[in-house]
Amino acid sequence: MKLNVSTKTKQLFMDPSVLELDHIPETLRFREPQIKAIYQNIRPAIRGTCPINMILQGPPGTGKTTTVNHIFREIEKTYPHIIPVFVNCQIIRSEFRVFHKIYQTLLHQEPPLQGVSSQQLIDVLGKKFSKTGDVILICLDDANALLHLNILENVLRTLLRLHEGYPGIKIGIIATVNTKDSSITNHLSTSVNSVFQANHIFFPPYKKDEVRTIMHDRARTGICPGVIFPQILDLIVEETGKDGDLRMGISLLKCSVDRAESDKRTSITRTDVQASLQTAREMHRKTITNMLKEEEQQMLDMISTLIRQNGDRMNVGNLYRETKKQLPMCYSKFRRGLTRYGNLGLIEMCRPKAWGNTREVLLRYTTDTDNDGWMPRETI
Ligand SMILES: Nc1ncnc2c1ncn2[C@@H]1O[C@H](COP(=O)(O)OP(=O)(O)O)[C@@H](O)[C@H]1O
Ligand SMILES: [Mg+2]
Repeated sequence: MKLNVSTKTKQLFMDPSVLELDHIPETLRFREPQIKAIYQNIRPAIRGTCPINMILQGPPGTGKTTTVNHIFREIEKTYPHIIPVFVNCQIIRSEFRVFHKIYQTLLHQEPPLQGVSSQQLIDVLGKKFSKTGDVILICLDDANALLHLNILENVLRTLLRLHEGYPGIKIGIIATVNTKDSSITNHLSTSVNSVFQANHIFFPPYKKDEVRTIMHDRARTGICPGVIFPQILDLIVEETGKDGDLRMGISLLKCSVDRAESDKRTSITRTDVQASLQTAREMHRKTITNMLKEEEQQMLDMISTLIRQNGDRMNVGNLYRETKKQLPMCYSKFRRGLTRYGNLGLIEMCRPKAWGNTREVLLRYTTDTDNDGWMPRETI
C-alpha cells in the first residue's frame, strides 16, 4: 500500500485530536444497549416532563463519560428544551462549585466566586426555570468524588427537592460512578434514595476484540494509512488489556506514533511500542493521580511505600497502623482513601481464602525497578 505520508515532513498523524482522551468518536461501538437504556430514561424529558434519574456504573475506561458526552451532543442538536449540564466532579470538588457550574451552564454567565452562597445561586435558577418549561439534565460525572468529600448527599438532596420550593422546575440526574461493585446509593440516606430512585445502567469492561476494534477505529481516523501494521496494533491491544483501561492504549498509540515521527520514520515498530510503554503508563497514572487532593496523594505515596517494603501486598489492619504513625487519621478516613484508590484502579482489595474476613491491599501499579517506571500488575 502506498503511504499517504510525505517523507519530507514525516507527518504521521492525520488528525492528532482523535488521539486525545477527551475526543468524542462519531460512532460509539459496543455501547448500543447502554445508549438505548439512557434514551429510554430520557424519553419523558422529550415530552417535557422529568426524566428518570440514572447511575451509570462501571470500571474506569469503559466509556461512561464518552457515552454521556455523545448523548448530550445529540440532545443539544435535537431538543432545544432539554438543557444538558456536565459537571466533572473530579475537578469541581465543593458544593458551591457544583452549583456555580450549573448556574454558569444554564445562564451562560459567570456568577461571582465570592460573596454569594450556593443558596443564592439556586434561588436564581429556581425562579427562572420554574417558568421556562425547559428540562435540565445534569450529569455528575465521577460522582463518587463527591461522595468522598461528603457532599454528594447534600448536592442530590438540593437538586432533587428543588421542585418543592420552585414548582414547575424539571431536573433529571445522571451520575457516573467508577466502581466495580458497591453503588453510591448504599452511601446515601433513605430520604435521598427515595427521591433519587435511580435506574442503574452497567458498563462492563471491553473484551479484547472490542478493544481491538475501538483502537483500530482510532488509528484509522487519527493516523495516516500504512503507519501502523496489524501486528503492531495487536501488540498495543495486548498491552492495553494488561491495564484494562482504554485510556492507556490510546496514550500508547499516540506515544508510539510520536516516537516514530520524531525519528523521521514512516511506520511504527515493535520497539516504538515497547519504548513508549513506560511513558504512556506514566501519563496514565499521572492522569489518575492528578485527580487526587494533596492529602490523598500523600496517603497514596505512604501506603505505596509501606506495601512495597512489605513485599507486594499488605493486610489492611497492619497498613492502617503503619500509615497512622506518620499520617495521623481515623480509620474511617483511611478506609475512604482505600475505596477511592480502588475506584480509580490504583489499588486492589482482596480477601485471601485462608484469612476469613481479613482483607489485603495490593498495588495495581508497581514500580519497575529496572526502568524506574510504572508497570501494571499482571497477576491481578
Ligand atoms: N465505545 C467506545 N468507542 C470508542 N472510544 C471509546 C469507547 N469507549 C471508550 N472510548 C474511549 O476510551 C477512553 C476512555 O473512555 P471514558 O468515557 O473516559 O471512560 P470512563 O468514563 O468509563 O472512565 C476515551 O478516550 C474514549 O474516547
Ligand atoms: Mg469517566
